[in-house]
Amino acid sequence: MKTMAEELFKEFREHSVSEFFRKNAAMLGYTGKIRSLTTIIHEGVTNAIDAAEETGVLPKIVVIIKRFDEEPEHFRVIIEDNASGIPEEFIPNVFGKMLAGTKLHRYMQSRGQQGIGVSGSVMFGQITSGKPATVITSTGNGDIIRADVMIDVDRNEGKITNVEKHKGKWRGTRVEVEVKDVTYMRSRYGPFNYLRMTAIANPHVHITFVEPDGTLTILESATDKVPERPKPMPLHPWGIMSDDLLILAKHTKSRNVVSFLSAELSRVSKRKAEEVCKLASVPPKKKPSELTWEEAERIVSAFKQVKLYAPPTSGLRPIGAADIESGMRQILNPEFVYAINRPPKVYRGGLPFIVEAGIAYGGSAGKTTDRKNENEEGEAGMELIRFANRAPLIFDQGGCAITTAMRNIDWRRYGVDPAAAQLTLFVNVASAYVPYTSAGKQSIADEPEVLDEIRTAIMEVARELRKFLYRKIKIKERQERAGVFEQHLPIIAKKAASLANVKEPDIKPLLKKVSGVDNAEEES
Ligand SMILES: Nc1ncnc2c1ncn2[C@@H]1O[C@H](COP(=O)(O)OP(=O)(O)O)[C@@H](O)[C@H]1O
Ligand SMILES: [Mg+2]
Repeated sequence: MKTMAEELFKEFREHSVSEFFRKNAAMLGYTGKIRSLTTIIHEGVTNAIDAAEETGVLPKIVVIIKRFDEEPEHFRVIIEDNASGIPEEFIPNVFGKMLAGTKLHRYMQSRGQQGIGVSGSVMFGQITSGKPATVITSTGNGDIIRADVMIDVDRNEGKITNVEKHKGKWRGTRVEVEVKDVTYMRSRYGPFNYLRMTAIANPHVHITFVEPDGTLTILESATDKVPERPKPMPLHPWGIMSDDLLILAKHTKSRNVVSFLSAELSRVSKRKAEEVCKLASVPPKKKPSELTWEEAERIVSAFKQVKLYAPPTSGLRPIGAADIESGMRQILNPEFVYAINRPPKVYRGGLPFIVEAGIAYGGSAGKTTDRKNENEEGEAGMELIRFANRAPLIFDQGGCAITTAMRNIDWRRYGVDPAAAQLTLFVNVASAYVPYTSAGKQSIADEPEVLDEIRTAIMEVARELRKFLYRKIKIKERQERAGVFEQHLPIIAKKAASLANVKEPDIKPLLKKVSGVDNAEEES
């Protein structure tokens, strides 16, 4: 007789990561017809910009969305870049293997982190259209590779077919994904707004966009400065746990614990490492790979007892106030714009981050959509645009620390009516480890230090806006006053002159003086 357990456990199976995400595509942002399409664009565009920046070139990106004739929900999405290109042997793993990439094991600020971005799009295309993705890429060595890629879901492996090689001088990558059951719309959540937001936060990026109806939009770059290449940053002892330490210990080249701690962690000198070993009762000459869990725990707590410099922030790459302003100016054409870049802070004890904020008033600020579109009218209002490491966050707005911070502010104190103001508020959180609320990476968790910084940053820009609005009201009042004088003074002058029986005086200089219009701008 078989036991019940034996019977039940016959069904016990192992699943691959791909299988998991095939069933849970929503976790990667593939939920809803508009959002799913935007997610594909997001994955392609973030990879393109990351790769171009790592290559050290100004990103030039082309995005084309083609609709299949007579099929409203069937598209081909094409994203092309001018970055490094991908070596042929890596094509299957880049596009067909989940949790694989060049970014996951580095502690560095980039848009991608987990290695499930573009492979997620390939998967989504495959499960909705049944078609492989097409990749065309060249590393600039004269060979252009073209291949179809599909994911073998059971094995979490990429399979390439129809490989062709052509000769040609070009460097970059072009990914084409065929997808069904999605909708194209020029709404707040659609690709157009996503790209517009990308352009604002990345004034060095040049984007060419072709919509399904053939409309061509070029989002010109506002600067030709290539951002500094991202630098990997070692972890700081304040931010690590025992498990992190043991993983580092397994992979280190250092031969003893002291040199291991000082080589793999930031702000740890040999002297500090010795001090920590002593406090933790760990032999300093021990081989790192032989550290036990208990020893790791003692080291982590010993680090809390010694004095250390705060984590380095050299690896953070904020946009910078000047670039935020030029980005906002380029896209929104506002009457007023102001941006700030806060000093680095840490959360959870050791994870550095920087908050940046910008505010734009007038022009097309506050209008998320283009009015020539049939789907949605551009309306005035207060628009919040959120970014993490310069990548737009469009979804899950409600659960995001940036939204919470904005809502906690009493806007009327800054002279703003949130319902009617023509305003765009910009917030970017830069960190090698952004505390996202989920794998979809669309909202930032309410870490108290992060929330606090965002609030402070918003208030700082709001204060400048208040000054501007105040000045504007004053100028208006003066102009109105001038109007009154202009209207009545000549009549009074005429009447008075005739009463006094003298020649009518020239009142122009007087008018200027009383109205103060001429010098209103400088005064405030
Ligand atoms: N356009 C591209 N150019 C060069 N390399 C790329 C490009 N797109 C993706 N890659 C490589 O493929 C890896 C996997 O990409 P992805 O699945 O989006 O994960 P992530 O961006 O989180 O690392 C990246 O880490 C990068 O090494
Ligand atoms: Mg990616």
